[in-house]
Amino acid sequence: MCSHDNHLYAVAVHGGSGHYSRNQFSQQERQAYRTGLERALRAAEAVLKTGGAALDAVQSAVAALEDDALFNAGCGAVLNAGGIAELDAAIMDGTTLKAGAVAGMKTTRNPVRAARAVMEHSPHVFLHGSDADAFASRQGLTQVDNAYFVTVARELQLAEAQARGETFSISKFGTVGAVARDRLGNIAAATSTGGMTNKLPGRVSDSAVIGAGVYASRHGCAVAGSGHGEFFIRLAVGKDISGRIEYGHQTLADAANHVIHTSLASLGGEGGVIAIDARGTIVIAMNTAGMFRGVLKESGEPETGIYADEALSRSPASL
Ligand code: GLY
Repeated sequence: MCSHDNHLYAVAVHGGSGHYSRNQFSQQERQAYRTGLERALRAAEAVLKTGGAALDAVQSAVAALEDDALFNAGCGAVLNAGGIAELDAAIMDGTTLKAGAVAGMKTTRNPVRAARAVMEHSPHVFLHGSDADAFASRQGLTQVDNAYFVTVARELQLAEAQARGETFSISKFGTVGAVARDRLGNIAAATSTGGMTNKLPGRVSDSAVIGAGVYASRHGCAVAGSGHGEFFIRLAVGKDISGRIEYGHQTLADAANHVIHTSLASLGGEGGVIAIDARGTIVIAMNTAGMFRGVLKESGEPETGIYADEALSRSPASL
């Protein structure tokens, strides 16, 4: 899928890719996901329409998805093998190439805000574990008990995965992400995730790895991925897509489609990306049956979709 530029600002968000079957979700559940995506798009729009920066827009969109218990990030994150939510996030500014990332957070309510704080208030790019939570706390970010992130639905998913002896639940690659272009032509990307159900404690997802599940360069594009993170890390998916544009002079669509449908698929990896370039061109590519996703362009309305073969549209409740 590819949609074109000539828009001053633009934002795309995703709430995870996966092998969603047509009868997996009720009408009400589909609407709830679309409402959550629309809320995230509106959060970004609130920043962009007043002339705000793409970096602030992607942070706001991802924080909105972290606060929505439906999505696998922040509240509602999937649980590790010990029943604990361990959260990863990252953010990158395509103009300065500055980036911040956190992994294995257990008490910071909005990991994406912690990633931004690492980028702006530390000399580092990547903090992990309890030291990352302590840093976030010193930055004034809200701390919560780990139980805040845990929902009954995720406890059931963990119990089912453990009963089946699954290391990961591969039916759904929950992650959230956002990419945006602001009125000045700056682009940025942000991601956040609880990772994969029943993961080993200490496992780090691609969503926290700059160049893998998240990347932004104004010479290429801003990318936020969703998929089986180990493959995204091995292939440096975000940097590869951006580099194909910058060095290989490919179009955004060719670059994203090649990496998802050829490179990722040839290793047996599954997932997708949302991507935007400095002209505001948005591309969404996936090799899964679906991805919760949405797009909002200046002067437009939020459009969302779930299944790979469906065009983005206004959701029934937003009409
Ligand atoms: N992309 C999310 C994960 O692998 O955890």
